[in-house]
Amino acid sequence: MSARIDIPLAALAGKPVIFPVNLDAPARSRASFYIETFGCQMNAHDSEKVAGLLLARGYRQVESPDAADMVFFNTCSIREKAAQKVFTRLNDFRGQRGQGKVVGVLGCVAQQEGEAIFERAPWVRMVCGSASYRNLPALLEEIESGETRVSGLNLDTDETFETEVTRRDNPVRAYLTIIEGCDYACSYCVVPHTRGPERSRASASVLNEVAHLVAGGFTEVQLLGQTVNSYRDPSPAGLNFAQLLAAVAAIPGIRRVRFTTSHPNDFTREIVEIIESTPALCDHIHLPVQSGSTRVLKEMRRTYTREEYVERISWIRAGRRPFSITTDVIVGFPGETGSEFEETLSLLDEVKFDGVFAFKYSPRPNTTAKDMPGAIPEDVKSARLAILQQRQREIQIAQNQKLLGAGFEILVDGRHESRGQWSGRTTCNRIVNFTSQAENLLGQYCQVKITGAGPNSLVGEHVA
Ligand code: 5AD
Ligand code: SF4
Repeated sequence: MSARIDIPLAALAGKPVIFPVNLDAPARSRASFYIETFGCQMNAHDSEKVAGLLLARGYRQVESPDAADMVFFNTCSIREKAAQKVFTRLNDFRGQRGQGKVVGVLGCVAQQEGEAIFERAPWVRMVCGSASYRNLPALLEEIESGETRVSGLNLDTDETFETEVTRRDNPVRAYLTIIEGCDYACSYCVVPHTRGPERSRASASVLNEVAHLVAGGFTEVQLLGQTVNSYRDPSPAGLNFAQLLAAVAAIPGIRRVRFTTSHPNDFTREIVEIIESTPALCDHIHLPVQSGSTRVLKEMRRTYTREEYVERISWIRAGRRPFSITTDVIVGFPGETGSEFEETLSLLDEVKFDGVFAFKYSPRPNTTAKDMPGAIPEDVKSARLAILQQRQREIQIAQNQKLLGAGFEILVDGRHESRGQWSGRTTCNRIVNFTSQAENLLGQYCQVKITGAGPNSLVGEHVA
């Protein structure tokens, strides 16, 4: 049976979902802006919030940098390549193309490089880290009143970045931040430096936003945080992460709740139990392991051993629901021996993840790992990455083959016109491409039978 969920046209068009508060927005039309986003889901959602913040103040969003008075790059610095990409892109806006435009750098590269960006790319007029986004309107007003360069780089904040209006890009799944920053200190990771200390949002504010999202037509939400399950409600209600999950899932109209990214150290049995007993909580866990070697994990300062990680996997697997589990892995961490890399391969064989995001270690500024001895040569890192990806590909083919003939409920989020297929996700986050006689399925829940399986997605047909 397919149930029809009506998503208001405003949400489908990616228009702002407006919360009913007094915005004090100026009536006059202001400059136009364009935002380009690099990096993770947190960044993508930050861009949605920044867009909402500016729209609420009368700025206009445009879809091309050439049509914009202000061009913002929301940047990522997790690996060196990502950070380099930003400077390459900034170069496109020197000279003619950037003339007359306000070019601004937001996000992690802004926070990491700070005002040095002005030296490297003198045509940039604003740098602003994510912990200072609430000051963006004031920074823009400074520029409007003639200031050549402005910066927002303060990290001493115990506040979260919430806006009255968020312009959501995804018509089917709404993202919302529940915790910002990170209090872990993984030796390879730049995030604590670029996003600042951990701070959770009050549960009432989260629940209120979810209720408004439902009123705006969303049935699926994804809770976001660098370490989402470290959530601790700062308000007197004092909910822990599992209790917050239950409260979000209990909001009438919510059909799917996802969350990412979890840290193994804060992953409790209670989280599994809550998901088990609450159908609206999706049975997918993204639990980054980073390495299968306890020695390497210690050097990474991950705060758990291989065995402790595997124990958490056993809690998830012991449940009745068929959870899918995905992870992140870094290969070529300083000092990683061939046999320690083999330990990561054996972990893949042992856990049989449903997806692995694997990266070559990249030394980052302000991290302790960058000064560690035993750097692994680039060609060895590349070879290890290729071996790992091949091994995981085989695992995924075998796992997905087992799903042939199974039925899943899919929330449809896309259309491949050339292939005549609809596309969507199962509750366990598997991508399914399927054919249907129906005319428009976007935003609907459909029952689909699996008829084909590749390493990264499934193929099916609409059965009701
Ligand atoms: N080098 C390579 N990969 C990294 N990650 C974080 N920092 C680095 C780094 N310096 C990876 C981790 C993390 C994911 C988001 O990015 O696997 O979980
Ligand atoms: Fe980075 Fe570790 Fe914090 Fe994740 S938990 S954001 S990898 S420091």
